[in-house]
This record gives sequence, C-alpha cells and structure tokens, in this order.
Amino acid sequence: MKVLVVGGGGREHAIAWRLSRSPRIQKVFVAPGNAGTALEPGLENIPITAITELVAFVKQENITLTVVGPEAPLADGIVDRFRSEGLRVFGPTQKAAQLEASKIFAKAFMQRYGISTANSASFSQADAAHRYVDQISLPSVIKADGLAAGKGVVVAYSRDQAHEAVDYMLKNSKLGKAGAQILIEDFLEGEEASFIVMADGQHALPLATSQDHKRLLDNDLGPNTGGMGAYSPAPCITPELHAKIMREIINPTLSGMAQENEPYTGFLYAGLMISPQGDIKVLEYNCRLGDPETQSILMRLKTDFLMLIEHALNQSLDKAEVEWDRRAALGVVMAAEGYPE
Ligand code: AMP
Ligand code: GLY
Repeated sequence: MKVLVVGGGGREHAIAWRLSRSPRIQKVFVAPGNAGTALEPGLENIPITAITELVAFVKQENITLTVVGPEAPLADGIVDRFRSEGLRVFGPTQKAAQLEASKIFAKAFMQRYGISTANSASFSQADAAHRYVDQISLPSVIKADGLAAGKGVVVAYSRDQAHEAVDYMLKNSKLGKAGAQILIEDFLEGEEASFIVMADGQHALPLATSQDHKRLLDNDLGPNTGGMGAYSPAPCITPELHAKIMREIINPTLSGMAQENEPYTGFLYAGLMISPQGDIKVLEYNCRLGDPETQSILMRLKTDFLMLIEHALNQSLDKAEVEWDRRAALGVVMAAEGYPE
C-alpha cells in the first residue's frame, strides 16, 4: 500500500522512515518533506501543503492512509476534512487539537477534569496583566494562548522581563492572533519529561519514554528552544511514575475529551513537570509527536508501526502489543546559526 506523511521536519523523516520499513508498505509520500527525506530509499517528497491539494493527491494516488506530523495542519482541520472525504487519516480533529492550539482551552479542560497543572490567570488586556505581574512571585511564566512555533512561552525571572513579555504579546502583538490572549502561570520546579501516547478515542497506547534538551548551549546556558536533542528512554520515568501518569493524566484526558464529544484520536503528548516529591503536573499538551523526541523513540520501535496506526484507526489499541529495543537511542539537533531567534 501507499501512505502519506504530512510535514517536513526531522520528526516526519523518522515517521516516514519507520513506516517505509513496514513489509506491507510499497511507498511513503512525504508532503512536503525535506532534504533528508529526499535521500531516503522508499520515500518520495511531494511539494504540496494545502489541504485541498493533499486531498486531491491522496485520491489520485490511491493512498491508503495519512499520518499528520505537525500541529499546524491539525489545528487547521486536516483530519476533519480528510474524514469528510472518506479518507483514512491518523490525527486529532480540529476541536481536539485545541488541547495544543489554545493553552487557555487546555487549562480550562484540565481544571474541569481534575488534571494537575500550574495555577494560572488569563488576560486579553495589557493593563490588567501588568497589574497582575506587579503582585506575583517570581519566576513566573507568560504564555501566548495560540500556536507560536515555540516562541510563545517566556519564563520571566524578573518583573521587568514579565512586563516586557506582556507587552510583546498583548500590547505590541508580536505574535499576532496567537498572543491576543495570554496565560500567566506559576513557575514549576522539577524534572521535565515528555510522555507520548497513541490514542484511538478511548484507549491509549504509551510509546517509549523520552526527554528532550530544551535549552541552547552547554550547561543549559542558552534560551529555551524546541529541543536541541533527545533520548529514549527517560530514566526519570520509573514504572511507578509511568502508572501514575497513565492514571492521573492520560486516561482522564481521553475520558474528558470523550465526555465533551470530541474523542481524542492521534498522538497525544503531555509535557510534564515532575517534582522532587514525585508530583506530576502538565506543562502543556501537544496534539502530535514531539520533535526531536520522535527520532529517538521510533529508532527503538520494533513492532510494525503501520500495524499500530491501523489499531488506532480501528479503535483497537487496547489489543495492540508493542515491543521496544532495550538499547537507548539518542539524537542531536544540528541547527542553523542564530537558532532559535
Ligand atoms: P510549553 O510550550 O508550555 O511546554 O512551554 C515551553 C517550556 O517552557 C517548557 O518545556 C518548560 O521548559 C517551560 N515552562 C512552561 N511552563 C512552565 C512552568 N509553569 N514552570 C516552569 N517552566 C515552564
Ligand atoms: N520537543 C518539544 C516538542 O516537540 O514540543
């Protein structure tokens, strides 16, 4: 069969590469792909990104299923559109993707279902946000509500920095619509880990654990980035923590979304902060696999990835068995000079 992977990052290269190893897959198209996927045997780059053109391409090429990598097409409703055309696609609907596309939606959702997260307040007016900043304890975290390609979170260590971030987003609209509303939330301390599952609306299949390196430069001296590298497994996720994350975070998220008539399908990524006492709080949800976590995770996947995705599309993830290579995998990101600015 032929499959399509939507996206053009290292994550999509890893997804497409892993799928191309499936004995039942004859060809993997990647739209638009990148210089790496262009060199990979079994993969073919397709220079299209518009949803309407993707639909036409999938029909024309008789593509059996599509896997969506990045958040932007998900937030634009690619899954809703494909489904309405009768095409098989793995990802969350536009409404379900709000878990990532609106941090205010996600926060309210977590509060409704008792999912632990940092305390916060939301603002759309700079004056009110500045008054709030004058009273809070530091450090504090200022977050744009919408998708901002990794530039929407400022950890402010001084009041000046916090005021500056408020103006950047609310007053000077530097992030456009994404920053028209903001959250100001308590700073959490602990160890950060990414916990990623595949979800079929009802069941979750946890993938191997992983952790990425957020800050640029050695010894964490640089600014936050989307991730300068990653490894899998994440030793901080003990079997006890793993069970607790499934019980307290992942399962309530899936049952909450189902209760809201938006059953969550696709990859679901919970960015977690684990306190020294072992308390778990959600920093963010992503409605996709992590980049660069995926590169390390999929390197260790021994089970046929296609079969797992089929289980997810057939709502039978509870019956899926997955095997991981016991060895660790590690990835390093090569970035353009000047990254992340
Ligand atoms: P987010 O996109 O919400 O995950 O934020 C990006 C990064 O900012 C996270 O990976 C953390 O390193 C940091 N961060 C976000 N929220 C908090 C918080 N409440 N406390 C401490 N660090 C945070
Ligand atoms: N590496 C962090 C992310 O994918 O959001």
